[in-house]
Amino acid sequence: MNRKKPVIVTMLAAIMLISLIAGCSSNKNNGGSTPDASKATNKPKTENTATEAPPANKKLVVGFAQIGAESGWRDAETNSVKATFGDDANFELKFSDAQQKQENQIKAIRTFIAQKVDAIGLAPVVESGWETVLKEAKDANIPVFLLDRGITKGNEDLYVSFIGSDFILEGQNAAKWMIEEFGAGAEVNIVQLEGTVGASAANDRKKGFEDAIAGESGYKIVYSQTGDFTRAKGKEVMEAYLKKDKNIQVVYAHNDDMALGAIQAIEEAGLKPGTDIKIIGVDGIKAAFEAIAEGKMNVTVECNPLLGPQLKQAILDYKAGTALDKWIKSDEDVYAGQKAIDALPNRQY
Ligand code: AHR
Repeated sequence: MNRKKPVIVTMLAAIMLISLIAGCSSNKNNGGSTPDASKATNKPKTENTATEAPPANKKLVVGFAQIGAESGWRDAETNSVKATFGDDANFELKFSDAQQKQENQIKAIRTFIAQKVDAIGLAPVVESGWETVLKEAKDANIPVFLLDRGITKGNEDLYVSFIGSDFILEGQNAAKWMIEEFGAGAEVNIVQLEGTVGASAANDRKKGFEDAIAGESGYKIVYSQTGDFTRAKGKEVMEAYLKKDKNIQVVYAHNDDMALGAIQAIEEAGLKPGTDIKIIGVDGIKAAFEAIAEGKMNVTVECNPLLGPQLKQAILDYKAGTALDKWIKSDEDVYAGQKAIDALPNRQY
C-alpha cells in the first residue's frame, strides 16, 4: 500500500519541474525579464526582440552611417559619436561618411549587415526611401537606431528608437522669438533658408515656423529656398535674393551655418545684419553665439548634436533587454542677447 507513495511524489516533482521550465522559456521569448514600461509611463516603447546578451568579453561592433560634414553641427555630432565609442574598450565603431548621398548611406548599411555588426546607427539624409534596406537589417536581426533625423512615418517597426530633437518645436520657437521681437500685427518680410530638400530637419523646421505664423497676416515669407544646410549655399541664395529685393526684416535659416552665410551676403550688400535684418538660426553652434555677441545675429534655437552617449546607452539598454522609448528626445533651449553672451564661454561645439 505504501509502495504507491514514492510514485506519487515522483509524479508531483516531475509536474513542478515541467512548469518551472515552461515559465523560464516564456520569459526568454520576451527578451529576458523586460518589464512593459510603456504601461507605466504611457510613452510608446519599442518591443525589445534582442534574444541573447553578447558574451561578456566580446566587443560590441557598431556601424554608424553618417550623412557627411555639411555643417558645424554635423562635425560636432560625428565627434561625439567617435569619442563616445572610441573611448570605450567594450565597443568597436565602423564609421561611414556618405557625402550627402542617400545611396552611399544605403551601401554603408548593406556593408554593416554583411559584416554582422551588433547595431547600426543611421542619420538619414532624407526621410523617404529607407524601407528596403532597413527591412534587410531587420531580417538580419541587427537593431537600427535613428540618430538626429527621422524617416517617413509608418515605418516605426524598422528601427528601435529615434534619438534626437523635436524639429517642429524648433521651428515654432524660432517664430515665437520673432513675434515677440516685432510684436503681433507687425509687417515683417521674411526670407527662409531651407535645409536639404527632403530632410526631416528641413521639413519640420519649415512646418513648425509656418504653422506658428499662419494666424499673423503681417508676417510674410517673401522667399523660401534651400541652402542645403551649408554656409556657402546660404550665402549664395541670400546674395541672389538681395539683388532683387532688400525690403526684408528677417532671415530665418534652418541652421546656423546658412545664417552665417547670409550674414556675409547681407554685409557685402551694404546692410547691417542683426540690425537692418534680424537673423534667426537653428543649432546653437559656437560660431552663432560669437555672431550674436558681435551683434550680427539675433537668436539661435539650440539643437543638440552631442548624441554619442545617448546612442551608446540605447544600444546597451537594448542588448540588456530593456524596453526603450521610441523617441529619445534631447533637451534644448533658445539663446538670444545677453543669455547667449553669458553661455558662450561654456559652449562645447
Ligand atoms: O539634422 C540636423 C541638421 O543637420 C542640423 O541643424 C544641421 O546643421 C545639420 O546639417
